[in-house]
Amino acid sequence: VLLLAGCQGVLPPIDWQQMNEQPKLMPYDPSSFFFDGRAMRPLPDGSVPRDAVLGRPALTEGTVDGKPVTAIPIALDRARLEKGRARFEVICAACHGLDGSGESAVAMAMQLRKPPSLLTDENRAKPPGRVFQIASDGYGLMPSYRAVLPVEERWEVVGYLKVLQLSRGGVRLDALPPATRAAALRALAETSP
Ligand code: HEC
Repeated sequence: VLLLAGCQGVLPPIDWQQMNEQPKLMPYDPSSFFFDGRAMRPLPDGSVPRDAVLGRPALTEGTVDGKPVTAIPIALDRARLEKGRARFEVICAACHGLDGSGESAVAMAMQLRKPPSLLTDENRAKPPGRVFQIASDGYGLMPSYRAVLPVEERWEVVGYLKVLQLSRGGVRLDALPPATRAAALRALAETSP
């Protein structure tokens, strides 16, 4: 109707610039209207994002009754471990090293506590839920990666770290399935002098 009316010259043409210039509040603007003096309103208590997973602390916090879970609560396959590897190498490796040994450019330059090796007996023994907690909430000087890695990706990283720990001296040759053991022995024979 507006358009038609406009065509007939009944209404003046619309001045779009006025819409840009109308009084309005931008994020972070002060406002005397609200008691806290801010234009942005806090979320009502108990608000959650639409895609939040609720009521499954084993999945979202890595804990059951406050204790770290001992098994990874999502099904991991090769594709997911590859994803975990990609994330680990982009995010965690900057500090902990590509092989998890703690040898990294950041570690060399750090004056304070250096990022530790993730291959120590103590870190190998950490249950997956504990590693998930550390990645989620941060730990001492290490920041939280909750906002960077969605829940499932955080578990994929934890899964890859467990694989990395196994591949770095954590698995006995005779514990491997026969075909894998044969392949490992061949590879060792090729690389030893
Ligand atoms: C910015 C550097 C940095 C990045 C990136 C980083 N960390 Fe850390 N991480 C640290 C530091 C430093 C510590 C030791 C903190 C302390 O003791 O104050 C640590 C500690 C840890 C520990 C406990 C180790 C121990 O010996 O107690 C784990 C497990 C861990 N990180 C896993 C990860 C994982 C998984 C990622 C990737 C999601 C990651 N970190 C990314 C710096 C980093």
